[in-house]
Amino acid sequence: MKPVIYVTRKIPEELLQPYREYADFRMWERETEPVPRDVLLKEAAAADGVLCLLTEQIDRAFFRAAGNLKVVANMAVGFDNIDIEAAEEHGVVVTNTPDVLTETTADLTFGLLMTTARRIVEAADYIRDGQWEHWSPYLLAGADVHGKKIGIVGMGRIGEAVARRATGFQMPILYHNRSRKETVEQELGAKYLELDELLQEADFVVSLVPLTNETARLFNKEAFRKMKKSAVFINASRGATVDEDALYDALINNRIRAAGLDVFEKEPITPNHPLVQLDNTVCLPHIGSASEETRTKMIRLCLDNLATVLRGETPITPVHK
Ligand code: NAP
Ligand code: GLV
Repeated sequence: MKPVIYVTRKIPEELLQPYREYADFRMWERETEPVPRDVLLKEAAAADGVLCLLTEQIDRAFFRAAGNLKVVANMAVGFDNIDIEAAEEHGVVVTNTPDVLTETTADLTFGLLMTTARRIVEAADYIRDGQWEHWSPYLLAGADVHGKKIGIVGMGRIGEAVARRATGFQMPILYHNRSRKETVEQELGAKYLELDELLQEADFVVSLVPLTNETARLFNKEAFRKMKKSAVFINASRGATVDEDALYDALINNRIRAAGLDVFEKEPITPNHPLVQLDNTVCLPHIGSASEETRTKMIRLCLDNLATVLRGETPITPVHK
């Protein structure tokens, strides 16, 4: 009997086709709507493998319900939606999608930084709203990017790719991790700083840390108080690394200049979200890795991870605690 794989969102048949030889696939057939929890638990109970998205909470109750499960392939590099301890207790392998999305996410992160600093969305809306009547010296004037200090919190794969882009803009690179990364210091001239020092020195503070117990609400009232008044904050990691009330407060009181946000504590957000209402924010719907090429690579990597585990081989990109 072939193993059963449950896929929690509709993915293109042409990507599944090569894998149909070894597995029977079941799928939540909607493209834009997450699978309801009761359906997920019911399907997981009969599955050997699950391909899930970051919209699914893969928690202890899920693993209890999934008696035959051997592998969960998360279509994301971040895996804060999965209880890894519970997975290990149930003997389930968890995989994610590192590397294939690094450059695409770095493109978006740097693009968001530029867009926020140079007020590009506001400027495009200015024309759409029929407000452009004259050119004037300070019309929609933003902040320079080139030559400014970028402070990357979470100098991992994506952080490093963002730092490489920043060198093209002659930006001195500051970074903070729990451990030093000598390669970026040698190759890009990056300077390691404690978090507080980085917050005080950087013109752009960029969050690329994974969401963990340690990083939840890392960017809180005190953190925003330490930043320069002219600082621009960019979050491309997870919304919950930020205290959104404190960020709102810092932005509305001009304690920092602006924020570019690809992620939010509770997604999706609506136009009524306080951070969307501000003029000095650029808010995006979690599109860091969203290029057609990269999303296809992520799906393929998930399918390859599922195939290797279900064949009794070593997974390609297992998650480590
Ligand atoms: P990664 O290579 O694991 O990098 C994470 C970095 O964060 C590591 O260098 C790690 O260094 C550092 N870090 C971890 N805990 C820390 C802490 N408590 N304090 C300071 N630094 C800490 O991961 P990645 O592939 O670059 O991805 C990073 C994150 O980006 C993902 O976890 C995900 O949440 C997010 N992401 C978002 C999108 C999007 O669409 N917006 C797309 C892809 C990824 P140390 O271990 O030395 O601390
Ligand atoms: C997206 O947010 C990811 O973690 O891959």
